[in-house]
Amino acid sequence: MANHKHVRDYIRTIPDFPHEGILFRDVTSLFADPRGLRLAVDQLLAPYAGERIDAVVGLEARGFILGGAVAHQLGTGFVPVRKAGKLPGAVHAQDYELEYGSATVEIHQDALEPGAHVLVVDDLLATGGTAKAGISLIEKLGAQVIGCAFVIDLPELGGRKLLEGMGMDVHTICD
Ligand code: PRP
Ligand code: ADE
Repeated sequence: MANHKHVRDYIRTIPDFPHEGILFRDVTSLFADPRGLRLAVDQLLAPYAGERIDAVVGLEARGFILGGAVAHQLGTGFVPVRKAGKLPGAVHAQDYELEYGSATVEIHQDALEPGAHVLVVDDLLATGGTAKAGISLIEKLGAQVIGCAFVIDLPELGGRKLLEGMGMDVHTICD
């Protein structure tokens, strides 16, 4: 097996998925590699050493895999922001636009304590629409987003600018 060094070396780019013109960044190859997954989790957490984090929120679906690993490493709980209709309890919902389509995400109304310090985790930041929707759900519960951590940034799609314009701390590992 090749001796990869950087997180980007584990990620494949697949053209025209799920639609023509989209360069799809496939993180399954990163998650499948024990060194790749460990490297990604360590690098996602590096800027937050010593910071108070009470909960990790992961964005469906790839943010669940990373967010679960990050929460385990921190010793916090994990809270999912799910696509509409999947959570069984009472929810708050938020609509958003994607690079390719639109959708609704939800959070359980009792998922976070008011005042909790939350780290948002996902695999990829594109337009920022998904993260913005997740942040608005977290803030609806009275919790505070102390950082948003992503493996991949697609800066040309403007997500970082959008989130930083909202006053968010944005951490990405590669583009
Ligand atoms: C992808 C990705 C992020 C989001 C980023 O998820 O995993 O969650 O898009 O795009 P944005 O910054 O433009 O909002 P997707 O919606 O494809 O869902 P999936 O992980 O369930 O496949
Ligand atoms: N989500 C939004 N844009 C994406 C892309 N280019 N690759 C993978 N996931 C995405």
